[in-house]
Amino acid sequence: MPTKNFTLITGASKGIGKAMAHECASRGMDLYLVARSENLLQGLAQELSSKVQVKFLSTDLFSPDAPQRIFEFATQHQMNINMLVNNAGMGFYGVFHETDLQNHIRVMQLNMDACVRMAHEFLQRSDKKEKRYLLNVASTAAYQPVPNMTIYAATKAFMLFFSRGLRHELRKEKVNVTALCPGGTESDFFGPAQMEEVVKKNAQFMMKAEEVAKLGINGVLKNKSVVIPGFTNKAGALSAKLFPHDMVVPVAAKFFD
Ligand SMILES: NC(=O)c1ccc[n+]([C@@H]2O[C@H](COP(=O)([O-])OP(=O)(O)OC[C@H]3O[C@@H](n4cnc5c(N)ncnc54)[C@H](OP(=O)(O)O)[C@@H]3O)[C@@H](O)[C@H]2O)c1
Repeated sequence: MPTKNFTLITGASKGIGKAMAHECASRGMDLYLVARSENLLQGLAQELSSKVQVKFLSTDLFSPDAPQRIFEFATQHQMNINMLVNNAGMGFYGVFHETDLQNHIRVMQLNMDACVRMAHEFLQRSDKKEKRYLLNVASTAAYQPVPNMTIYAATKAFMLFFSRGLRHELRKEKVNVTALCPGGTESDFFGPAQMEEVVKKNAQFMMKAEEVAKLGINGVLKNKSVVIPGFTNKAGALSAKLFPHDMVVPVAAKFFD
Protein backbone atom coordinates (compact mmCIF):
# COMPACT_ATOMS: atom_id res chain seq x y z
CA MET A 1 0.00 0.00 0.00
CA PRO A 2 1.44 3.48 -0.88
CA THR A 3 2.30 5.79 2.01
CA LYS A 4 0.39 9.02 2.71
CA ASN A 5 1.69 12.23 4.24
CA PHE A 6 0.86 12.83 7.91
CA THR A 7 1.68 15.57 10.44
CA LEU A 8 3.01 14.13 13.70
CA ILE A 9 2.26 16.27 16.78
CA THR A 10 3.73 15.35 20.18
CA GLY A 11 1.84 16.53 23.26
CA ALA A 12 -1.35 16.64 21.19
CA SER A 13 -3.73 15.73 24.03
CA LYS A 14 -3.86 19.20 25.62
CA GLY A 15 -2.99 22.88 25.31
CA ILE A 16 -0.97 24.15 22.36
CA GLY A 17 -0.51 20.67 20.83
CA LYS A 18 -4.27 20.04 20.82
CA ALA A 19 -4.84 23.49 19.28
CA MET A 20 -2.24 22.62 16.61
CA ALA A 21 -4.17 19.44 15.82
CA HIS A 22 -7.35 21.50 15.28
CA GLU A 23 -5.42 24.04 13.19
CA CYS A 24 -3.88 21.33 10.96
CA ALA A 25 -7.20 19.52 10.59
CA SER A 26 -8.86 22.75 9.45
CA ARG A 27 -6.20 22.89 6.70
CA GLY A 28 -6.95 19.31 5.62
CA MET A 29 -3.68 17.84 6.98
CA ASP A 30 -3.87 14.19 8.07
CA LEU A 31 -2.70 13.72 11.65
CA TYR A 32 -0.69 11.39 13.84
CA LEU A 33 -1.17 12.41 17.49
CA VAL A 34 1.11 11.40 20.36
CA ALA A 35 0.88 11.92 24.15
CA ARG A 36 0.39 9.74 27.24
CA SER A 37 -3.37 10.27 27.82
CA GLU A 38 -4.95 7.66 25.55
CA ASN A 39 -8.54 8.69 26.37
CA LEU A 40 -7.85 12.33 25.41
CA LEU A 41 -6.14 11.32 22.17
CA GLN A 42 -9.02 8.99 21.31
CA GLY A 43 -11.59 11.75 21.94
CA LEU A 44 -9.64 14.25 19.83
CA ALA A 45 -9.14 11.73 17.04
CA GLN A 46 -12.90 11.07 16.96
CA GLU A 47 -13.64 14.81 16.92
CA LEU A 48 -11.29 15.50 14.00
CA SER A 49 -11.92 12.37 11.96
CA SER A 50 -14.83 13.98 10.08
CA LYS A 51 -12.28 16.38 8.52
CA VAL A 52 -9.08 14.36 8.10
CA GLN A 53 -7.53 10.95 8.70
CA VAL A 54 -6.28 10.69 12.30
CA LYS A 55 -4.06 8.05 13.92
CA PHE A 56 -2.85 8.23 17.51
CA LEU A 57 -0.42 6.48 19.83
CA SER A 58 -0.29 6.71 23.60
CA THR A 59 3.42 6.86 24.48
CA ASP A 60 5.56 8.24 27.27
CA LEU A 61 8.36 10.35 25.79
CA PHE A 62 10.41 9.94 28.97
CA SER A 63 11.26 6.52 27.58
CA PRO A 64 14.39 6.86 25.39
CA ASP A 65 13.09 4.31 22.85
CA ALA A 66 9.69 6.05 22.47
CA PRO A 67 10.69 8.07 19.34
CA GLN A 68 11.79 4.87 17.57
CA ARG A 69 8.50 3.15 18.49
CA ILE A 70 6.52 6.20 17.35
CA PHE A 71 8.13 6.12 13.91
CA GLU A 72 7.89 2.32 13.64
CA PHE A 73 4.14 2.63 14.23
CA ALA A 74 4.05 5.21 11.42
CA THR A 75 5.83 2.81 9.04
CA GLN A 76 3.49 -0.06 10.01
CA HIS A 77 0.48 2.14 9.20
CA GLN A 78 1.84 3.46 5.87
CA MET A 79 2.28 6.98 7.17
CA ASN A 80 5.02 9.19 5.74
CA ILE A 81 5.66 11.91 8.32
CA ASN A 82 6.20 15.05 6.28
CA MET A 83 5.70 17.41 9.25
CA LEU A 84 6.91 16.94 12.83
CA VAL A 85 5.68 19.28 15.55
CA ASN A 86 8.06 18.78 18.49
CA ASN A 87 5.67 20.22 21.07
CA ALA A 88 5.48 18.01 24.20
CA GLY A 89 7.20 19.83 27.03
CA MET A 90 6.99 20.64 30.71
CA GLY A 91 8.37 23.05 33.27
CA PHE A 92 8.91 23.12 36.98
CA TYR A 93 8.80 26.22 39.13
CA GLY A 94 11.07 26.57 42.14
CA VAL A 95 14.50 27.46 43.47
CA PHE A 96 16.97 25.09 41.77
CA HIS A 97 18.62 23.44 44.79
CA GLU A 98 15.38 23.23 46.81
CA THR A 99 13.62 21.32 44.03
CA ASP A 100 13.91 17.53 43.68
CA LEU A 101 16.69 16.82 41.17
CA GLN A 102 14.45 14.28 39.39
CA ASN A 103 12.08 17.11 38.41
CA HIS A 104 14.94 18.95 36.70
CA ILE A 105 16.11 15.76 34.97
CA ARG A 106 12.60 15.06 33.65
CA VAL A 107 12.26 18.60 32.27
CA MET A 108 15.60 18.18 30.45
CA GLN A 109 14.64 14.71 29.16
CA LEU A 110 11.30 15.78 27.72
CA ASN A 111 12.20 19.29 26.48
CA MET A 112 15.56 18.37 24.93
CA ASP A 113 16.41 14.63 24.66
CA ALA A 114 13.00 13.53 23.40
CA CYS A 115 12.87 16.40 20.86
CA VAL A 116 16.35 15.60 19.55
CA ARG A 117 15.49 11.90 19.21
CA MET A 118 12.19 12.74 17.46
CA ALA A 119 13.90 15.13 15.02
CA HIS A 120 16.60 12.53 14.25
CA GLU A 121 14.07 9.78 13.51
CA PHE A 122 12.04 12.23 11.42
CA LEU A 123 14.95 13.42 9.28
CA GLN A 124 16.28 9.89 8.73
CA ARG A 125 13.00 8.12 8.04
CA SER A 126 10.76 10.59 6.22
CA ASP A 127 10.59 10.61 2.43
CA LYS A 128 13.35 12.99 1.25
CA LYS A 129 11.61 13.56 -2.07
CA GLU A 130 8.72 15.25 -0.24
CA LYS A 131 8.74 18.80 1.12
CA ARG A 132 9.27 18.40 4.89
CA TYR A 133 8.50 20.61 7.90
CA LEU A 134 9.95 20.63 11.42
CA LEU A 135 8.32 22.90 14.01
CA ASN A 136 10.16 22.99 17.35
CA VAL A 137 8.24 24.53 20.24
CA ALA A 138 10.64 26.62 22.34
CA SER A 139 9.50 29.66 24.37
CA THR A 140 10.25 33.33 24.98
CA ALA A 141 12.12 31.85 27.99
CA ALA A 142 14.78 30.92 25.39
CA TYR A 143 15.86 34.56 25.14
CA GLN A 144 17.12 35.09 28.69
CA PRO A 145 17.69 33.11 31.87
CA VAL A 146 14.53 32.92 34.01
CA PRO A 147 15.16 32.66 37.78
CA ASN A 148 12.97 30.02 39.49
CA MET A 149 12.55 28.38 36.07
CA THR A 150 16.25 28.20 35.36
CA ILE A 151 16.29 24.67 33.96
CA TYR A 152 13.17 25.21 31.85
CA ALA A 153 14.58 28.41 30.29
CA ALA A 154 17.89 26.66 29.59
CA THR A 155 16.11 23.79 27.80
CA LYS A 156 14.21 26.28 25.66
CA ALA A 157 17.40 28.17 24.79
CA PHE A 158 18.77 24.79 23.69
CA MET A 159 15.70 24.21 21.49
CA LEU A 160 16.04 27.63 19.87
CA PHE A 161 19.74 27.05 19.06
CA PHE A 162 19.07 23.46 17.96
CA SER A 163 16.38 24.72 15.61
CA ARG A 164 18.47 27.54 14.15
CA GLY A 165 21.47 25.25 13.63
CA LEU A 166 19.40 22.54 11.92
CA ARG A 167 17.78 25.14 9.72
CA HIS A 168 21.15 26.14 8.31
CA GLU A 169 22.36 22.52 7.96
CA LEU A 170 19.22 21.66 6.00
CA ARG A 171 19.03 24.83 3.88
CA LYS A 172 19.77 22.96 0.63
CA GLU A 173 17.25 20.20 1.30
CA LYS A 174 13.50 20.59 1.11
CA VAL A 175 13.10 21.03 4.90
CA ASN A 176 11.57 24.07 6.62
CA VAL A 177 12.78 24.35 10.23
CA THR A 178 11.01 26.81 12.52
CA ALA A 179 11.22 27.56 16.24
CA LEU A 180 7.96 28.68 17.84
CA CYS A 181 8.58 30.85 20.91
CA PRO A 182 5.32 31.51 22.74
CA GLY A 183 5.06 33.57 25.89
CA GLY A 184 2.41 32.77 28.51
CA THR A 185 -0.35 30.76 26.83
CA GLU A 186 -3.55 29.34 28.32
CA SER A 187 -3.04 25.58 28.70
CA ASP A 188 -2.63 22.76 31.24
CA PHE A 189 1.07 23.58 31.65
CA PHE A 190 0.88 25.54 34.89
CA GLY A 191 -0.72 23.01 37.31
CA PRO A 192 2.03 20.36 37.06
CA ALA A 193 4.62 23.18 36.92
CA GLN A 194 3.28 24.50 40.27
CA MET A 195 2.81 27.96 38.77
CA GLU A 196 -0.81 28.86 39.57
CA GLU A 197 0.23 32.00 41.49
CA VAL A 198 2.60 33.14 38.74
CA VAL A 199 -0.17 32.72 36.16
CA LYS A 200 -2.64 34.78 38.22
CA LYS A 201 -0.07 37.58 38.42
CA ASN A 202 0.52 37.59 34.65
CA ALA A 203 -3.04 36.85 33.49
CA GLN A 204 -3.21 39.99 31.33
CA PHE A 205 -0.31 38.76 29.16
CA MET A 206 -1.68 35.29 28.42
CA MET A 207 -2.51 34.32 24.84
CA LYS A 208 -4.99 31.72 23.60
CA ALA A 209 -3.52 28.37 22.56
CA GLU A 210 -5.50 28.54 19.28
CA GLU A 211 -3.85 31.84 18.34
CA VAL A 212 -0.37 30.51 19.11
CA ALA A 213 -1.01 27.28 17.19
CA LYS A 214 -2.21 29.13 14.10
CA LEU A 215 0.86 31.40 14.05
CA GLY A 216 3.16 28.41 14.54
CA ILE A 217 1.69 26.33 11.72
CA ASN A 218 1.60 29.39 9.42
CA GLY A 219 5.22 30.12 10.30
CA VAL A 220 6.60 26.69 9.46
CA LEU A 221 4.60 26.48 6.21
CA LYS A 222 6.04 29.88 5.23
CA ASN A 223 9.56 28.85 6.29
CA LYS A 224 10.05 31.47 9.03
CA SER A 225 13.13 30.77 11.16
CA VAL A 226 11.43 31.91 14.40
CA VAL A 227 7.85 32.77 15.31
CA ILE A 228 7.20 34.82 18.46
CA PRO A 229 3.43 35.18 18.91
CA GLY A 230 2.09 38.54 20.10
CA PHE A 231 3.46 42.07 20.32
CA THR A 232 4.37 41.95 24.04
CA ASN A 233 6.31 38.71 23.59
CA LYS A 234 8.15 40.10 20.55
CA ALA A 235 9.05 43.26 22.50
CA GLY A 236 10.28 41.17 25.45
CA ALA A 237 12.48 38.98 23.23
CA LEU A 238 13.88 42.02 21.45
CA SER A 239 14.74 43.74 24.76
CA ALA A 240 16.50 40.58 25.91
CA LYS A 241 18.66 40.75 22.78
CA LEU A 242 19.38 44.48 23.03
CA PHE A 243 20.24 44.79 26.71
CA PRO A 244 22.87 42.93 28.77
CA HIS A 245 21.61 39.90 30.68
CA ASP A 246 22.68 41.52 33.96
CA MET A 247 19.92 44.08 33.30
CA VAL A 248 17.36 41.74 31.74
CA VAL A 249 17.45 38.86 34.27
CA PRO A 250 16.19 40.91 37.27
CA VAL A 251 13.27 42.11 35.11
CA ALA A 252 12.44 38.52 34.05
CA ALA A 253 12.67 37.49 37.71
CA LYS A 254 9.92 39.99 38.66
CA PHE A 255 7.42 38.07 36.49
CA PHE A 256 8.38 34.76 38.14
CA ASP A 257 8.58 35.73 41.83
N1 LIG B 1 1.73 27.42 28.06
C1 LIG B 1 2.69 28.30 27.99
O1 LIG B 1 2.63 29.40 28.57
C2 LIG B 1 3.91 28.01 27.15
C3 LIG B 1 4.77 29.08 26.85
C4 LIG B 1 5.90 28.83 26.08
C5 LIG B 1 6.17 27.56 25.61
N2 LIG B 1 5.31 26.54 25.92
C6 LIG B 1 5.66 25.20 25.41
O2 LIG B 1 4.58 24.71 24.64
C7 LIG B 1 4.62 23.29 24.64
C8 LIG B 1 3.24 22.76 24.96
O3 LIG B 1 2.90 23.15 26.29
P1 LIG B 1 1.42 23.47 26.76
O4 LIG B 1 1.44 24.83 27.35
O5 LIG B 1 0.44 23.13 25.70
O6 LIG B 1 1.33 22.44 27.98
P2 LIG B 1 0.26 21.33 28.35
O7 LIG B 1 -1.12 21.85 28.19
O8 LIG B 1 0.69 20.84 29.71
O9 LIG B 1 0.51 20.19 27.28
C9 LIG B 1 1.69 19.42 27.30
C10 LIG B 1 1.50 18.24 26.37
O10 LIG B 1 2.67 17.41 26.44
C11 LIG B 1 2.26 16.08 26.73
N3 LIG B 1 3.28 15.39 27.53
C12 LIG B 1 3.75 15.79 28.75
N4 LIG B 1 4.64 14.90 29.19
C13 LIG B 1 4.72 13.92 28.25
C14 LIG B 1 5.44 12.70 28.14
N5 LIG B 1 6.28 12.29 29.12
N6 LIG B 1 5.29 11.94 27.04
C15 LIG B 1 4.44 12.33 26.06
N7 LIG B 1 3.73 13.46 26.10
C16 LIG B 1 3.86 14.24 27.19
C17 LIG B 1 0.95 16.22 27.49
O11 LIG B 1 0.12 15.09 27.33
P3 LIG B 1 -0.06 13.88 28.37
O12 LIG B 1 -0.09 14.47 29.75
O13 LIG B 1 -1.33 13.27 27.91
O14 LIG B 1 1.12 13.01 28.13
C18 LIG B 1 0.31 17.39 26.76
O15 LIG B 1 -0.36 16.94 25.61
C19 LIG B 1 5.69 22.89 25.65
O16 LIG B 1 6.89 22.56 24.97
C20 LIG B 1 5.87 24.15 26.48
O17 LIG B 1 7.16 24.24 27.06
C21 LIG B 1 4.21 26.73 26.68
